[in-house]
Amino acid sequence: MTDRDLIFDVKNVTLRFGGVTSLDDVSIQQERGEILSVIGPNGAGKTSLFNCLTGVYQPQEGSITFRPTSTQSISIVGRQPHRVSRAGVARTFQTSRMFNALTTFENVKIGVEARQKTGPIGAMLKLPRTRHEEKHSDERSHELLEFVKLTHRTNTLADSLPYGDRRRLEIARALGTNPKVLLLDEPAAGTNPSEKLELASLISRINAELGISILLIEHDMKLVMSLAQRLVVLNFGGVIAEGSPQEIQENPRVIEAYLGASEEVEQ
Ligand SMILES: Nc1ncnc2c1ncn2[C@@H]1O[C@H](COP(=O)(O)OP(=O)(O)OP(=O)(O)O)[C@@H](O)[C@H]1O
Ligand SMILES: [Mg+2]
Repeated sequence: MTDRDLIFDVKNVTLRFGGVTSLDDVSIQQERGEILSVIGPNGAGKTSLFNCLTGVYQPQEGSITFRPTSTQSISIVGRQPHRVSRAGVARTFQTSRMFNALTTFENVKIGVEARQKTGPIGAMLKLPRTRHEEKHSDERSHELLEFVKLTHRTNTLADSLPYGDRRRLEIARALGTNPKVLLLDEPAAGTNPSEKLELASLISRINAELGISILLIEHDMKLVMSLAQRLVVLNFGGVIAEGSPQEIQENPRVIEAYLGASEEVEQ
């Protein structure tokens, strides 16, 4: 066994949909506090991996242990997504899932209240615990908006936010659940160069200042190479390489996987 302090231990995970094998005997370990990036061509299995780590998909084979080296170690496979979230695993989605008709503040508050005992239903029914929780969740939501630098957008409808702000709002909402690890699925997709820089700085602050481990799926190689301490490369559902940014950039199997993918696109 390892004596490293891990946040995730993924062992021999295989996930199939009918004849399609989305993940093929995948083993990945992430250290606590690490920024680990998962890269790979389209369809490689990156989002499927996130769905397994958050309890959305149930792999047919293998195990996923969250905080395996702590006393609060739990097995993810077979656990409902809301329970996985409560245990400390938060995520953002490849395509935005905001409540467009709600304000920035209200969207973050939903994230914060997902964590509370009374929950959104209790809040609606004004159950006794709610007044105290309400005050707490308002304060926490304002704090999070400040952290992601969206205070000036507090009352803006999510629908009318510029793209970069929207991406940061999704992150704020995920942080509302007080996670130990944050899974980001292509957070920079669709953003412009200056928004990318802001995102990169936000992701490293989440890691350094809040002590949250980061698992990052991203196609923008410049961003990935500047942020990740280590990378895992998936291709056709399997891990084809792992290592430091430099090792990955020089790895012939990785170069081949990406060249192959770009040739397919050109055809
Ligand atoms: N719910 C599902 N039902 C059937 N097939 C699925 C399902 N989810 C994923 N797959 C398949 O699994 C494979 C991997 O998809 P996945 O979305 O994980 O790739 P990805 O690496 O995230 O790609 P991208 O970079 O395009 O987001 C694809 O062949 C996809 O069609
Ligand atoms: Mg994906």
